[in-house]
Amino acid sequence: MNAAIAIVVAYLIGSISFAVVVSRLFGLSDPRTYGSKNPGATNVLRSGNKAAAALTLVGDGFKGWLAVWLAMVYQDQFNLSDTTVALVGLAVFVGHLWPVFFKFVGGKGVATALGVLLAINVWLGLATFATWLIVAYAFRYSSLAALIASLFAPFYYGLLFGANFTLLAVAVMSALLIYRHAQNIANLMSGKESRIGSKKK
Ligand code: G3P
Repeated sequence: MNAAIAIVVAYLIGSISFAVVVSRLFGLSDPRTYGSKNPGATNVLRSGNKAAAALTLVGDGFKGWLAVWLAMVYQDQFNLSDTTVALVGLAVFVGHLWPVFFKFVGGKGVATALGVLLAINVWLGLATFATWLIVAYAFRYSSLAALIASLFAPFYYGLLFGANFTLLAVAVMSALLIYRHAQNIANLMSGKESRIGSKKK
């Protein structure tokens, strides 16, 4: 029962779309109406408001971190298994992708996945973020950076902790993130993907 409650609470936390909430607070257009139409920090940046984009990144990352951190802190008290903690990470991520509060139309999960990885292990999160930064700096594509970083994340986890259920959860998270980037992959292959810093259309 505790496990089910933890997973549902994580899903609800993940369902808070900071791109939509922050844009409303800043009086900006709904990010689902311009650019890639994705409710995420990269698309909010296309509005030209860097502070709103940064706050979206921090908010979406924080919720991923918070859900897993809470599950870990209360793991013993509520008798949660390591498998449940891993499922909590997956649930907050799934909440971001298919949020119950936004008609199940969510984002691509990059910031939330990073928050989850940082909560699982700070070195895992930092290694994945460093991978994102290197690719983003070299190619100026947020999506390409996320795709490459998501491919590396399960390898980093395996190197640090070996094979266990959490590795499977991290791999599923990466697979879902790649699935959500289908349009970005098509754009990258046809040369139509917009680079970091380009404004909305
Ligand atoms: O944060 C998601 C990023 O990888 C791609 O976003 O808006 O360019 O589709 P976007």
